[in-house]
Amino acid sequence: MTDKTTPLVVKNLTKHYAGSGHWLTGSFFSKKGQGAIKALNGLDFTLNKGETLAVVGESGCGKSTLARQLTLLEKPTSGEVIINGQSTHNLRRDELKSLRSKVQMVFQNPYASLNPRAKVSTQLEEPLRINTALSSAERREQVTEMMQKVGLRPEFAERYPHMFSGGQRQRIAIARAMMLNPEIVIADEPTSALDVSIQAQVLNLFMDLQDVFNTSYIFISHNLSVVEHIATNVLVMYLGRAVEISDKKTLYQTPLHPYTKALLSATPMVYPEDRRATIEITGELPSPLNLPKGCVFHQRCPFATDKCKEVVPELRHIGSSKVACHHAETLN
Ligand SMILES: Nc1ncnc2c1ncn2[C@@H]1O[C@H](COP(=O)(O)OP(=O)(O)O)[C@@H](O)[C@H]1O
Ligand SMILES: [Mg+2]
Repeated sequence: MTDKTTPLVVKNLTKHYAGSGHWLTGSFFSKKGQGAIKALNGLDFTLNKGETLAVVGESGCGKSTLARQLTLLEKPTSGEVIINGQSTHNLRRDELKSLRSKVQMVFQNPYASLNPRAKVSTQLEEPLRINTALSSAERREQVTEMMQKVGLRPEFAERYPHMFSGGQRQRIAIARAMMLNPEIVIADEPTSALDVSIQAQVLNLFMDLQDVFNTSYIFISHNLSVVEHIATNVLVMYLGRAVEISDKKTLYQTPLHPYTKALLSATPMVYPEDRRATIEITGELPSPLNLPKGCVFHQRCPFATDKCKEVVPELRHIGSSKVACHHAETLN
């Protein structure tokens, strides 16, 4: 794929962390022969210009690992990340730097991206100072404009992060991510630490900014009701794999994968009249140290058959959706 107008294409992306057991116990305590932590296991998806792809799944399914591969902070074990038609494989330092400025990140905790000891103005100016030749006055002007766009009074620029509420701090982090007019913003649970009333405001801000800048978003959440408004398409992830990818309306109205159905059953929200069956899943996410054979979901799936225990279901088209389930047709 060399299409320069597609912001992001991910092909067979895999990330395995060296097998030394859990980071808490370390290699000293781990049993010999323990394998790698298989955080991502062959992800394929495309993010289109000006759209939002929501990535949804339980804690531990690999969402943040995906974010780190997409922001080029880590090198994937295998597979490819293609940004604006350019593969991120084997880039020179200067190429990497230029590509990195096109992909910005917003974290769950804005303190992770804000420096508590620097004024907001300094932090918003920094990306411009490093990546552009703008004068100090021009940078100031852009900071003022961006503060207004994210709903903060420009005079607040002379304050420090601790002087703001959680929601305002997240606005600052979003402003910082937008300063270079990036191609892609990866938001990893950006509203999970906020009060419910503030969450909606921050989601609206993301959408308003997308209207203005036509930015493409990867919006990560463990909660399907959070992404309900903001998503264009939804990727449902389980143990480092995509189990279903669909446009939002189709996914919420006619989920195909039993795991998607179970997540929706646990989510109070839209289109309840279309809800056909309630599916409950029990048990915990299996360890990524020891991926189940066959379908990664089979141990928790009420519909699993012998085939599911043996054969990995490929992601395949059903209608406008893509789903990785051997029995998706017969479950509806
Ligand atoms: N740097 C790392 N080293 C080893 N294991 C990791 C590392 N980062 C994440 N993991 C493991 O990979 C799996 C996926 O983690 P993560 O991507 O944080 O999931 P999520 O964001 O969906 O909660 C987890 O089992 C986690 O313990
Ligand atoms: Mg995470």
